[in-house]
Amino acid sequence: MADKVALRHGFEHHELMELAEGMHAFMADLYSHLQKEEQILFPLVKKLEHGANDLP
Ligand SMILES: [Fe+2]
Repeated sequence: MADKVALRHGFEHHELMELAEGMHAFMADLYSHLQKEEQILFPLVKKLEHGANDLP
């Protein structure tokens, strides 16, 4: 959505271009965080839930 707004109004409001770039950086960080949770944290929580005590 930020890209769409920036493409439509970014020529008159340059800050919208910066906002869109910031959103891209934020989303990249967020997806990386979510991926780590899915691959590392949540499997660890499941192991703990089932009584595992050989955690890293
Ligand atoms: Fe989180």
